[in-house]
Amino acid sequence: MRQLFKMSAYAILSCIVLNFSFDVQSAAAKSESNAPWWKSAVFYEVYPRSFADAKNTGTGNLAGITSKLDYLQELGVDAIWITPCYPSPQVDFGYDISDYCNIAPEYGTLEDFDKLVAEAKKRDIKILMDFVMNHTSDKHPWFVESASSKNSPKRDWYIWRDGKNGEVPNNWQSIFGHSAWKLDPKTNQYYYHIFYTEQPDLNWRNKEVRKAMYDVARFWLDRGVAGFRMDAVGVLFEDPALKDNPLIKDGKPNAYGDPAMQNKYNDNLPEIHEVFRELRSVLDSYPNNPVLIGETTVKTEAEIKNLYGEKHDEIQLPMNFFFAYLNKLSAPDFRKRIEEAEKMSISDWPLYFFSNHDERRHYDRYGDNKHNDQIAKLTAALLLTLRGSPILYYGEELGMKNNDPKSIEEVKDPIGKLGWPNFKGRDGERTPMQWNACKNAGFSDVDPWLPVPPSYVNCNVESERKDPDSILNFYKTLIKLRRDNGALSQGQLKLLDQDPHVLSYVRHTKKQEILICLNMSSEKQEFDLTKISQKSSLKTLFTTMKDDQSHELSSKLVLEPFAVYLGEIPK
Ligand code: NOJ
Repeated sequence: MRQLFKMSAYAILSCIVLNFSFDVQSAAAKSESNAPWWKSAVFYEVYPRSFADAKNTGTGNLAGITSKLDYLQELGVDAIWITPCYPSPQVDFGYDISDYCNIAPEYGTLEDFDKLVAEAKKRDIKILMDFVMNHTSDKHPWFVESASSKNSPKRDWYIWRDGKNGEVPNNWQSIFGHSAWKLDPKTNQYYYHIFYTEQPDLNWRNKEVRKAMYDVARFWLDRGVAGFRMDAVGVLFEDPALKDNPLIKDGKPNAYGDPAMQNKYNDNLPEIHEVFRELRSVLDSYPNNPVLIGETTVKTEAEIKNLYGEKHDEIQLPMNFFFAYLNKLSAPDFRKRIEEAEKMSISDWPLYFFSNHDERRHYDRYGDNKHNDQIAKLTAALLLTLRGSPILYYGEELGMKNNDPKSIEEVKDPIGKLGWPNFKGRDGERTPMQWNACKNAGFSDVDPWLPVPPSYVNCNVESERKDPDSILNFYKTLIKLRRDNGALSQGQLKLLDQDPHVLSYVRHTKKQEILICLNMSSEKQEFDLTKISQKSSLKTLFTTMKDDQSHELSSKLVLEPFAVYLGEIPK
């Protein structure tokens, strides 16, 4: 059983937390639920290259992650998603896999992996692998064999086509810029790659490919993983007739100068659902409810609904990028996104995140250079009180900043070189985790593969542990509150009225009702509590404000700039 999280004294002091009766509420939270574990889980994304270096090589490794499990347990996370740690030429830092059933030597061995799973299990933490299904590395033996001749038994494992009038087969573009076709001079045919040229797309219409990939899933499930984050699964299929994609009229060219195009014929084709169902049935043949998190970037309500499957037999947690793509702190905008996500997943379960290894860290996205820490706490409160499973990106719990390369020579992510200076690539959000104020933020004794920003001196685990007001202690408190209150972890969500500054909603179960008010502005705001009920008073459960205790529901709640307020509505 999960070892009860011990709230640090600092975290208790950090805010006014009234009316806690954790044990009673924990019991209530538990008894209300027969839900699978992933519905109440807090997920944490680890970028293995940057998390912890136990070997002083300058890049992180699995032994490093294992050495930090106590920290993750203390934070309160339930499951870690590790971005690809398989053998890889590292063109796309692991998303170009050359062996699906092993660990990259720079990250460790399969024994290290088994140890990580076993040590995590002791702390009741689950491990999820990243499953890159759409493409392999061009150095993967499957592709090497496929490229060897037109008659290769693996030729059809990838997408090979003749050119058209001496040119590429059609106008499809790589997400990373320019044509998605690369000519192989040896066989004089083009292969298709929606990402880098070193990432050829697998042909998911080929039954042998499917079988080989489902065997990969079994390999890791047999080793004890609790599920997968499926990489780029919207683009598994392409139109067999290779029709040209329509250009977007008056659309702006992308950062690499390619014309704006709608990926009508190579994105989100109906066959993806068949693959989702097949993979899900592999997972369902294992005990303990393994989970699929889908990197899916569909845009409409109907599309997201479809990803769960008509019979709820596809992806349990499709990602929506609604928050990751929101660049402004605006109560109406967030409200709109939440409303959409609720509609899409009313009989299923949403998944929320602000930052990941492909998006700018939200500390910078929403920060106004004055109230950044308050805003980081406010957004954490939002993420951790919504209906749905949250994914934290390593370091966001400290308020880590983006640290973009200063010159093109420093850039490691190839798209940063291609897009420079408009787009500097993704290095900025992938810098080493900041453990302490020592050299290289305690990540490594040798120079790390990416530099740490100067702010690490104050923004690091060791300092923030000691600071009652830190972002780290805020996350710990909110995660614990979520765990201990059934309404927060599993309740339904009711959005309250539209307000230009305050985002408000109620989370409720049969036993508990909690009001959440988030002031997204730098001014004091009043929130009319008569919107909730005329009955009695509201008991403060948690607030960032200093002098709050309880409120008559006939009164107004005064919210300080960027204040977080959680109050329990008496039943
Ligand atoms: C999405 C991943 O998140 C990204 O980092 C990667 O470059 C592409 N898929 C290609 O695998």
